[in-house]
Amino acid sequence: MRGFKGNCFVFLVEMLVLLRVLQFPCPCLAELRVGFYNRTCPLAESVVRAKVKEAVGSDRQNAAILLRIHFHDCFVEGCDGSILVDNGEDSERNAFGHLGVGGFEIIEEVKAKLERVCPGVVSCADIVALAARDAVSLSRGPFYEVLTGRRDGLVSNKSLAANMPDVDDSARVLRSKFRQKGLSDKDLVLLSSAHSIGTTACFFMGTRLYRFDHKNRSDPSINPHFLPTLKTKCPLDGDVNVRLPLDPVTESVLDDQILRNIRKGFAVLSSDARLYDHRSTRHIVETYAGGGSFRGDFAKAMVKMGRIGAKTGRYGEIRRVCSSFNQRPV
Ligand SMILES: *[C@@H]1O[C@H](CO)[C@@H](O)[C@H](O)[C@H]1NC(C)=O
Ligand SMILES: *[C@@H]1O[C@H](CO)[C@@H](O)[C@H](O)[C@H]1NC(C)=O
Ligand SMILES: *[C@@H]1O[C@H](CO)[C@@H](O)[C@H](O)[C@H]1NC(C)=O
Repeated sequence: MRGFKGNCFVFLVEMLVLLRVLQFPCPCLAELRVGFYNRTCPLAESVVRAKVKEAVGSDRQNAAILLRIHFHDCFVEGCDGSILVDNGEDSERNAFGHLGVGGFEIIEEVKAKLERVCPGVVSCADIVALAARDAVSLSRGPFYEVLTGRRDGLVSNKSLAANMPDVDDSARVLRSKFRQKGLSDKDLVLLSSAHSIGTTACFFMGTRLYRFDHKNRSDPSINPHFLPTLKTKCPLDGDVNVRLPLDPVTESVLDDQILRNIRKGFAVLSSDARLYDHRSTRHIVETYAGGGSFRGDFAKAMVKMGRIGAKTGRYGEIRRVCSSFNQRPV
């Protein structure tokens, strides 16, 4: 009897071990999920949030900067932190298409803090995605749950960023570049609405104001009441570093105002104005400008963008420092 009881106990323990193994399938089947760090680094999300709050508190522009770096990260090699790597002139972050992207030092500070709290656990790619979400909600945009579990990529090459959406792209080109990333016209309009916060440099306005369509003229879609303002801010042969808000009406609130601006010819960036050129995107602009479910849909588009090319399981690595790949044994 005693022997039987013993075996039964061993059997139970074995069953429990088996159940635990089944509950945590092999990493190769891993997927992004909400709360990936719940057990391994419960403080992960609050550490990111505290740092983003501090950064945005000291300079409002950091909200737009953190939102933008997430977008630029996801568009090249997927959301894998590849834009953060700084390993020489050929680094992806030096690509022309990433010109003006910033926030690297904020991400690196969050990473350093997390390495002290739970070393080797939280990926840089996830920090970027979480920081963007916090930037959105701190700008009075929607709060949404971020899927986590991304791993950091092992490739950084500026030639891979050659196809970034450009401010001077046509509607046709923008739609196609988004489609190549699995993003629809609706996602294009919603994600462009991120320009509801932040600024641009006059550098990106030159073609729109003075050389539109390869001609000596400005973009005819600019409202005649708005054109003088833009030209005064960014004169021909003026300082290209002067900055202007992308949504002059509610420049620090992430809302649907920018879509109403576009409808009235008050878009600042050419790429935003182009959304009104094509029948499909124009219809979407009209829908949200007229009071659609912007907040919920913007959040959904962010989550969708955050899944692009995400590496999970045994792919990639968890970098110790966001700006460099981990040293691998040779
Ligand atoms: C982590 O916690 C959040 C909030 O309590 C919950 O919604 C989520 O499902 C949890 N995720 C995992 C993987 O345990
Ligand atoms: C980057 O890509 C280019 C073009 O494919 C290649 O010639 C170059 O060697 C690559 N650089 C690095 C550092 O991998
Ligand atoms: C472009 O047009 C403006 C205003 O009509 C004129 O002053 C300027 O000289 C023109 N530039 C060129 C290169 O044609």
